[in-house]
Amino acid sequence: MADTPFIPFTRPSFDQATIDAVGEVLRSGWVTSGPKLAEFESALSDYFGGRPVRCFANGTATMKIALQVAGIGEGDEVITTPISWVATSNVILGVGAKPVFVDIDPITRNLDLAKVAAVVTSKTRAIMPVYLAGLPVNMDELHSLAKQYKLRVIEDAAQAIGSTWKGHKIGSIGDLVSFSFQANKNLSTVEGGCLVFNNLDEAKLAEKLRLQGVTRQGMDGMDVDVLGGKDNLTDVNAVIGLHQLKQLPQFQTKRAELARHYFATLRQEMKTAGLESLNLELPPENFTETNWHMFQVVLPLNQLHVDRAQVMTELKEMGIGTGVHYPAITGFSLYKKLGYQVSATPIAERIGKSILTLPLFPGLTQVNVEFISKSLVAILKKHAK
Ligand SMILES: Cc1ncc(COP(=O)(O)O)c(C=O)c1O
Repeated sequence: MADTPFIPFTRPSFDQATIDAVGEVLRSGWVTSGPKLAEFESALSDYFGGRPVRCFANGTATMKIALQVAGIGEGDEVITTPISWVATSNVILGVGAKPVFVDIDPITRNLDLAKVAAVVTSKTRAIMPVYLAGLPVNMDELHSLAKQYKLRVIEDAAQAIGSTWKGHKIGSIGDLVSFSFQANKNLSTVEGGCLVFNNLDEAKLAEKLRLQGVTRQGMDGMDVDVLGGKDNLTDVNAVIGLHQLKQLPQFQTKRAELARHYFATLRQEMKTAGLESLNLELPPENFTETNWHMFQVVLPLNQLHVDRAQVMTELKEMGIGTGVHYPAITGFSLYKKLGYQVSATPIAERIGKSILTLPLFPGLTQVNVEFISKSLVAILKKHAK
């Protein structure tokens, strides 16, 4: 085992052509937002069926600007999920609004849309679902809720590039759809993000907001009529994105193959080990609509003598990296101080304590998947009650 290289839970795939293209931008004399950004935004717009697209420095800035474009601020409420990267609710707080957390569906691990209506108030302005591991929520239900209660929909599709709903790419339908291109994502620009709009005026507003609120008028004229920030994406990042976008279908195929292999090997190993009574929860087995951003299991902690941290430590000792995506946001000190209680969303509380992300990235091999599955099942067997 000592000679086997460590398997991280994720690793970005940048080929030589991408590395060469970065070199060209660096040598070109124009390195910040410029022609490559315009080319990347145009390629993304084609990818999303011709909708307006603007890029930003990261997914967090993208979501912040989505909220600003939707006019959400002080006194407003936004309905979201406690099982996400904390960026989701931090940006809601950041614009002065209040995140309202709804419990998750234990199978999809996404916001349970059936629980949304009960928390809508006169202050509710938007709903912000998160597509955990790339799996979308039921878009028909989402948009019918939004219509019924007159809410904006800001999709936190940070993890969902390449996923679809009834065959339509996430981003090609809907209201405001936010993606992240951070290092771990299926399409990475190292750091970055993009927002897909349903309305060109909103795209133009977002473009102003990402660069100090400035509008240019003629060769030397300039005006500032809204308060913007510094959230632009550089040409160095954009050129990486252009290459990644071309490779996205092949990355996707590889991820789906590896996910399929996880289902087969984990089930087989559990059977061989005589652990069929152990409730190791696998992801929803959907090979066409998700982009397989992550492969996450939920550990049967009530049937084990150890906690998740111990399982992760033992996997690490065997050369396997894992991750936690995510503990419930409502359990963080800041959120507790704001009055949230993790026990208010009991499914999120349980899953947040027991979810485990196994390695999944295009450079992983089927042999790796077999080794990871065997190792995990051996640990479960050792600690089963
Ligand atoms: C669900 C979710 N939301 C928001 C973000 C924020 O994106 P970024 O890290 O690019 O700011 C991420 C990325 O890490 C994410 O996974």
